[in-house]
Amino acid sequence: MKILISGGAGYIGSHTLKQFLETNHEICVLDNLSKGSKIALDDLQKIKKFKFFEQDLSDFMGVKEIFKQEKFDAVVHFAASIEVPESMQNPLKYYMNNTVNTTNLIQTCIENNTNNFIFSSTAATYGEPQNSVVNENSSLAPINPYGMSKLMSEKVLKDANMAHPEFKYCILRYFNVAGACNTYPIGQRYPKATLLIKVAAECAAGKRDKLFIFGDDYNTKDGTCIRDYIHVDDISSAHLAGLEYLQNNQSDIFNVGYGHGFSVKEVIETMKKVSGVDFKVELAPRRAGDPSVLISDASKIRSKTSWKPKYDDLELICKSAYEWEKQC
Ligand SMILES: NC(=O)c1ccc[n+]([C@@H]2O[C@H](COP(=O)([O-])OP(=O)(O)OC[C@H]3O[C@@H](n4cnc5c(N)ncnc54)[C@H](O)[C@@H]3O)[C@@H](O)[C@H]2O)c1
Repeated sequence: MKILISGGAGYIGSHTLKQFLETNHEICVLDNLSKGSKIALDDLQKIKKFKFFEQDLSDFMGVKEIFKQEKFDAVVHFAASIEVPESMQNPLKYYMNNTVNTTNLIQTCIENNTNNFIFSSTAATYGEPQNSVVNENSSLAPINPYGMSKLMSEKVLKDANMAHPEFKYCILRYFNVAGACNTYPIGQRYPKATLLIKVAAECAAGKRDKLFIFGDDYNTKDGTCIRDYIHVDDISSAHLAGLEYLQNNQSDIFNVGYGHGFSVKEVIETMKKVSGVDFKVELAPRRAGDPSVLISDASKIRSKTSWKPKYDDLELICKSAYEWEKQC
């Protein structure tokens, strides 16, 4: 197949690009490099050559031109704005980049007979769930514009599929993505990260002076929030499984997580253990909108697709994040 990976220069996109380059598919990448890394793309060209379009998705005519030229069979769509606090301050940026640009991309796919669409969605679509373990049928109630912009794109995909049944989608709702590739020098590059394992790795590598725990009075075993952390290479392989699923099945939605979680304190202890660095940790007030526990029910993706996660090991995830942080 000829596949376009949008956002392929970003964190998850570059890991997924690597895995797709190791298949027989022909790959192209589209990215505006606003957050992505050209260095990562140049490195990945060594695995197998691929076309790179430095292109902003908001330039609809430019995107349409590329589709006319290339005739893609599938799109794996990562490109998005992804920072929750920023989405509260600047919601229109999120609705424009995540929902409007995705809608245009979907329309362009339909116009050009590109009938397989893999979409990066998020556990943020569940908002603050009533149960700590959520499955794909749990209620969807995002509590920030980022989550809502993704949920709206899910709806656009579903409606487009109703009207054009030949156009199929696979929506992947990721939980807490972390770590870095174990075999290639790619990882999460952008500064001002807010994700716990990235921040802990930065502290261990001496790039930050301390880590804040936002609340230790939650109703959990040690009072800190629990999340389902998943290695980025396992998230990436879910896209290959998703594409394979679309070849034989109808459109579908899958949670992508391991189905169990760790507390903030457990992550910090693990990072300190694997790095051997006793970095400074301070307690801060709770942040608005942080559910105490958020874990995926990941049984659907395991039972319906060929996805087999390989890195369900918090020590390995933290170690890979720390090793990457020291070199990047
Ligand atoms: N990182 C996570 O924990 C997480 C969790 C759930 C879902 N997701 C989703 O996964 C996807 C990838 O996230 P990531 O962490 O790799 O983010 P990232 O910022 O590293 O990657 C996004 C990429 O898209 C590009 N991009 C953004 N807007 C663009 C535009 N208008 N035109 C062209 N390129 C554009 C950026 O330059 C960047 O390379 C996103 O859709 C995000 O919502 C991420």
